[in-house]
Amino acid sequence: MHIDRHERLWTVIATAIMATIFAIILGTSLALDIHPPSNVETVDSQRLHLTDEFAADNLGVSRGPDGGLVVRLVAVRYAFVPREVTIPADTRITWRLASADVTHGFHVPGTNLDSMVVPGYVSEIHGMIREPGDYAMLCNEYCGVGHQSMWTRITAVPPRQWRARPGEGGR
Ligand code: CUA
Repeated sequence: MHIDRHERLWTVIATAIMATIFAIILGTSLALDIHPPSNVETVDSQRLHLTDEFAADNLGVSRGPDGGLVVRLVAVRYAFVPREVTIPADTRITWRLASADVTHGFHVPGTNLDSMVVPGYVSEIHGMIREPGDYAMLCNEYCGVGHQSMWTRITAVPPRQWRARPGEGGR
């Protein structure tokens, strides 16, 4: 069977491109823990403050039903609530965010924490901050005139220091 030289060449090139893209997807997924969002969970963004989960008292760090740490934040023009969150470094954490108005994003540069926060849905991602330090969680979806000042401080402390905090002793 005769295959034209050019056709053969382009078959090889197209296959190489597909293999490269597949390798990139596989590599970022396995090595960097980067995945498309998979959580589909609705919430009434107009009444977040009246929900059990996203009422003001429940925001910040808490223990989930399985004992793991959960951080809940509300994204609202132009801030994340609460404005400061302290977490243990090198610990897998469930992040749950909901928007009270428009589409926001949250991104912690240097980590794999990055997701859109679409009104009407709960954004849930799992991730960790490996190194202790101060991090800025930024809004990375344009949400209005105050977009560039929308951020919150994430302080990652060494796990030993976290366990010594009042209320965390012995757990
Ligand atoms: Cu919120 Cu940009």
